[in-house]
Amino acid sequence: MLIETDRLVIRRFSSSDWKDIYEYLSQEQVVKYEPYGVLTDLECKKEAAIRSMNKAFLAVCLKGSCKLIGNLYFAEQEPKEFATWELGYVFNPIYYGKGYATESCRAIIDHGFKYLKVRRVVAMCNPDNISSWKLLERLKMRQEGHLLKNIYFKVDENGKPIWNDTYEYAILADEWIPLALREECIYV
Ligand SMILES: CC(C)(COP(=O)(O)OP(=O)(O)OC[C@H]1O[C@@H](n2cnc3c(N)ncnc32)[C@H](O)[C@@H]1OP(=O)(O)O)[C@@H](O)C(=O)NCCC(=O)NCCS
Repeated sequence: MLIETDRLVIRRFSSSDWKDIYEYLSQEQVVKYEPYGVLTDLECKKEAAIRSMNKAFLAVCLKGSCKLIGNLYFAEQEPKEFATWELGYVFNPIYYGKGYATESCRAIIDHGFKYLKVRRVVAMCNPDNISSWKLLERLKMRQEGHLLKNIYFKVDENGKPIWNDTYEYAILADEWIPLALREECIYV
């Protein structure tokens, strides 16, 4: 699977991508809201190999240099008859603030609605993760819920769960199609 936008190529992972993901998954600020902690170089080697076998993880690369600048997660949820897919994203901070996350997320959502028979796309984020929900708002996803202290990924120094709130966002194919007509996206 290959999706091309104005500035980016979105492709499956390969094991050799480990150095590029290590560049950002080794940073505390990047994984702060993720269910995992910072990864070592060895862990990134394993992670790249795992991702190369998992269609849900997609590498986002700059068109000219082929540099991997971040990753998307786009996965079908159970039960499959609901045709609901979850979107996730993690980028290298060097490339924040340029619209790359927006451009790639828009492309993968559009691809899902057009070619994968996706009916509904959902995304979740911590309300404190402002860049994340701003991205979802830019994508014109709707905030459908604010769950209070529903989840924890990390524990405090006494081993107690650090409970987090969750914003739930979604968009339906019926809502996206008119939007896609207004946005300029190129797909192959
Ligand atoms: C969430 C994350 C991907 C957002 O990154 P981002 O750089 O803010 O998003 P974009 O790449 O779409 O860039 C948007 C910014 O670039 C600006 N921009 C510049 N050129 C742009 C363009 N052509 N198109 C859109 N935005 C553009 C926007 O105005 C916006 O700036 P603002 O934040 O000051 O409003 C990033 O913060 C990240 O990887 N965080 C760590 C991992 C994480 O928390 N993931 C989410 C877990 S739920």
